[in-house]
Amino acid sequence: MSEHSDSPLCVLILAAGKGTRMKSSLAKVLHPLGAKPLLWHVIESAKTLNPAQIIVVYGHEGQALQAAFNNENITWVHQVAQQGTGDAVKSALPFIKDEHQVCILYGDVPLIQPQTLARLIAKTSQNTMGLLTANVDNPKGLGRIIRNAKQQVLRIVEEKDADELERAITEINTGIFLLQATSLKRWIAKLTNHNAQQEYYLTDIVQFAVEENVIVNTIYPQDLHEIMGINDKSQLAQLERYYQRQQAEKLMQAGVTMADPNRFDLRGSLQIERDVFIDVNSVFEGENQLGEGCHIGPNCMLINCKLGKGVVILANSHLEDAVVGDFSRIGPFARLRPGAQLGQNTHIGNYVEIKNATIGEGSKINHLSYIGDTLMGKDVNIGAGTITCNYDGANKHQTIIEDEVHIGSDTQLIAPIRVGKGATIGAGSTLNKDVPSYQLTLTHRLEPRSSDWQRPRKHKPLEDGK
Ligand code: UD1
Ligand code: CA
Repeated sequence: MSEHSDSPLCVLILAAGKGTRMKSSLAKVLHPLGAKPLLWHVIESAKTLNPAQIIVVYGHEGQALQAAFNNENITWVHQVAQQGTGDAVKSALPFIKDEHQVCILYGDVPLIQPQTLARLIAKTSQNTMGLLTANVDNPKGLGRIIRNAKQQVLRIVEEKDADELERAITEINTGIFLLQATSLKRWIAKLTNHNAQQEYYLTDIVQFAVEENVIVNTIYPQDLHEIMGINDKSQLAQLERYYQRQQAEKLMQAGVTMADPNRFDLRGSLQIERDVFIDVNSVFEGENQLGEGCHIGPNCMLINCKLGKGVVILANSHLEDAVVGDFSRIGPFARLRPGAQLGQNTHIGNYVEIKNATIGEGSKINHLSYIGDTLMGKDVNIGAGTITCNYDGANKHQTIIEDEVHIGSDTQLIAPIRVGKGATIGAGSTLNKDVPSYQLTLTHRLEPRSSDWQRPRKHKPLEDGK
């Protein structure tokens, strides 16, 4: 057998199917898998082959599709009416150069692996056709591979056109082909729709190849998930779980300890150092970084966060666009909103919300507080229920809390305001002026109004006759 073809590669991705069974107004190939569109996964795999051209055949939602991939160098082809896979390829033919070798992929088969495609390319010469097939337990609905006694591929028969014997075959067509553009063009021109579905079947090109004595070379994928197509939400969920498990597997290989890799979701990228522990049901979105020895408790959500060494995030915390310094302790039930910048050894406790605020080293906000638009120094202690009133209804104002300030419970700081170094604020204070350093400041201390005041008592029920 000769070497692989030296022709430049054209990847042709079919994505014109309507996706009716998704029951959604979103184009099928834009549904997310690991937070990226199905089609994105196919394009990423295709790009590893350094193709000269990538063509996507679409049928619906052309604008949404092109907008989702406007950074990619893609030739978009509109298949006006969906008359079958052969017709989809036909619509792309005018854009395919004769000297190219064409690899046909599907926009709704997202997990096709680069290694499998590379193997297909390596095994397919200029004069042969490459075909990815698989042996499956339940071939229902799929095209079957018909071979002769010498095990050479003769043709593909669709389920609806197959007789009983053919339907018993478990080797199926994945739909992924590799062949020279000139051959493809010649064979597509010969297609008819004289079949059970009155569609133009791409699969008929196999028998045209055989008629011209072109050998059809088959290879198998490494894993059946690679060739799984998405038609409905159930299949989407199934593949999502598989994909997440693969990501978890990679992270565990890199040293992460997981309480349960089946209850882990990564929707983006996760950079980790040694000895990270991740408890169940945490979701990582966007780009997150976890330093050495970080501990992520159950049910946490992290979106674009950077955690230093030894950071502990306790259960049910929500962190977004936050930076957390080494050995800090967050949660349970804490919320870090965008712009939260925490120094080392900070403590953020339950029902505390931090937004656009810098919290200095060793400062503690342990209970029920809102700290927004704030610059806080080191070793500050914020009592329960303290609120920075940063919003006057029109504009946001800044609060500055200098080092070693101690704020009593239920304090409102009406911004703009500065609390001087080492100040102590008595519980229940509402302050709208700068607070002096190293002094006790407090407001609203109530004095008894009169000494003969009595607490109201319940009336006794009236007795009869009175
Ligand atoms: C096709 C194959 C079948 C194979 C199966 C694998 C044909 C005739 N049959 O089945 O042998 O086992 O895939 O999943 O090729 N598409 C278009 N335009 C169309 C029709 C389809 O772009 O007019 C696209 C779809 O978006 C999808 C792909 O082609 O990505 C396959 O279409 P689908 O209807 O799912 O497959 P079948 O034709 O049933
Ligand atoms: Ca079909």
